[in-house]
This record gives sequence, structure tokens and C-alpha cells, in this order.
Amino acid sequence: MPEEVTSSPAETERVGMLLGARLKPGDIVLLTGELGAGKTTFVRGVAQGTGSNAQVASPTFQLVRIYPGRVQLAHVDLYRVESSTELRDLGLDELAQDGAVVVEWGDRLDVDGAALIQIEHLGGDRRLIRTKHDLGH
Ligand SMILES: Nc1ncnc2c1ncn2[C@@H]1O[C@H](COP(=O)(O)OP(=O)(O)OP(=O)(O)O)[C@@H](O)[C@H]1O
Ligand SMILES: [Mg+2]
Repeated sequence: MPEEVTSSPAETERVGMLLGARLKPGDIVLLTGELGAGKTTFVRGVAQGTGSNAQVASPTFQLVRIYPGRVQLAHVDLYRVESSTELRDLGLDELAQDGAVVVEWGDRLDVDGAALIQIEHLGGDRRLIRTKHDLGH
């Protein structure tokens, strides 16, 4: 599976952008990585790749943000989600019907067929971006 080391936020955005350009409705991308690893930075690139010019920030109190584009992108952040009820109420299936979905702290979900990307802090500005499971197309 592909691995890339980036040395700046812009490089991580670019890796995200290339993934975003490949996204189709129904795709679900689960991101894992510790606090500050670069998940939101990666999503900023993904949004560009889907043709959105939305301002991508950490959805602090919003569980989901929708970015319209060539393909609608739903940006989900599960950091503050504690209960399985909240996870169920997320409406992931509906979001995936309307477009692609990218999920920060995606290890809190178990979704068949989802792409799985792990971002690892290597110290300083270096990050290892590992595709553990790619899109199914
Ligand atoms: N190579 C890099 N890739 C991504 N971010 C980097 C890189 N080098 C430095 N950074 C910085 O690391 C921080 C990453 O923050 P970001 O919000 O993207 O992480 P996160 O994984 O979403 O965090 P959280 O767990 O809080 O949601 C930013 O301040 C960014 O500028
Ligand atoms: Mg984040």
C-alpha cells in the first residue's frame, strides 16, 4: 500500500487533493492519527480535490460539515463523539448517498469497503501518510 512522507502542511494537502480528485459519491474515507497529526489539513486538500472552495476547519462542535463541489463532500469529526447512539445517528448511509464522506478519528467506525488512511507524526513537520486500504475503484 502506498506510503508518503510529507514535510509541510501544503504537501499533506496535496496528497489529500489527489485523493479528493478520485472520489465518487458513495466513497467513505476513514482517517486515523493522533491529535495534531494533520487530519484536518489532509481534508482541506481532499475538499479542493472534490472541486470545493470551502473553508475547511476542525468542526469543533459540529459533527458534520457539507462542502458542495463536483462531488459533495461530508466532513465528519468523531473526536467528541462518545456514545454508539451518536455514531448511529450520524446518518452515514444518507451522507454517502449524497456524495463522498471523509471522517476524522475514523477508527471509531467500522465500515465495510471504506478507504483507510493513517497519518503519523514523525516529528517536526514530517508526517507519514499510509494508505492501509484504498478506494474500491
Ligand atoms: N507535513 C505536515 N502535514 C500536515 N500538517 C502539518 C505538517 N507539518 C506541520 N503541520 C501542522 O500540524 C498541524 C496539523 O493540524 P491538523 O488540525 O491538521 O491535525 P488534526 O490531525 O486534524 O488534529 P485534531 O486531532 O486536533 O483534529 C497544523 O498546525 C499544521 O500546520
Ligand atoms: Mg482535525
